[in-house]
Amino acid sequence: MRSSVLRHKYTSRPIGIFDSGIGGLSVVRHIRRILPSEDLLYVSDRAHLPYGTKDSQYILDRTHRIAEFLIQRGVKAIVIACNTATAVAVHHLRKAFQLPIIGMEPGVKPAILQSRNGLIGVLATEGTLGSGKFQTLLNQHADGSEIIICPCHGWVEAIERDGMAYRKTLELVRRQLTPVLEQGVDTLVLGCTHFPYLEENILKVAGPSIAIIDTGPAVAKQLRRRLVDENLLSTDDAPGSERFWCSAPPEQTRKLIEKLQGQPCVVNSLPTHGKSV
Ligand code: DGL
Repeated sequence: MRSSVLRHKYTSRPIGIFDSGIGGLSVVRHIRRILPSEDLLYVSDRAHLPYGTKDSQYILDRTHRIAEFLIQRGVKAIVIACNTATAVAVHHLRKAFQLPIIGMEPGVKPAILQSRNGLIGVLATEGTLGSGKFQTLLNQHADGSEIIICPCHGWVEAIERDGMAYRKTLELVRRQLTPVLEQGVDTLVLGCTHFPYLEENILKVAGPSIAIIDTGPAVAKQLRRRLVDENLLSTDDAPGSERFWCSAPPEQTRKLIEKLQGQPCVVNSLPTHGKSV
């Protein structure tokens, strides 16, 4: 009796998820699909976005503070729903905090398995593409394939400004994607969690025969595996809740989340701690 009460105390805790902005919600939708009864706490670090052009120390500091905030709120696991933050900070966070921390990386490996001609485009931030972790990923898997990288300037900011705004982002996508497509790629990796929101525009520019790899579903499955392994899976039957925090004034983020998720939500201000938000 006592051990099942204790167990429930842990399994009923929420899962913390964060990103520099609303990109991580493209991962949340996959998590929700396979873990419907988990409570989710989501942090958007919008005041410090984009991470992709910041130096490592800045990202280490931000992600450490956000992880501390989530742990103070009792989370049982953390998902870094951001490729850039994972590339820079996942090792540090796993050393600093004793709970399952699930990160993500561009889906180079599945892209190589799937590509017919071995020509793959990776769409990601400057920070992800320039990281040692990405270089290691290429060294481990890219032998025999050609990887064409595209540091997508301004895409994250455009999505944060306009959501999926089809017309406003189409030219931005076309300008930067065309030189990649001209090299003959047959597969595109979405190496930033914001980019699934541009998928319609990417398909419009690249054409329907292009294969698109999004790692969101794999991250959701990895989270579920870790929860099962650690006996942390929620045992509740009721649908889980979602709560949001944002480091910038929350209004714009609330509007964006409502637009993307199609339902009302409350976004709280991320409390400031110490000198920085
Ligand atoms: N969603 C983040 C990622 O996956 C965007 C990073 C940024 O803020 O530049 O990399």
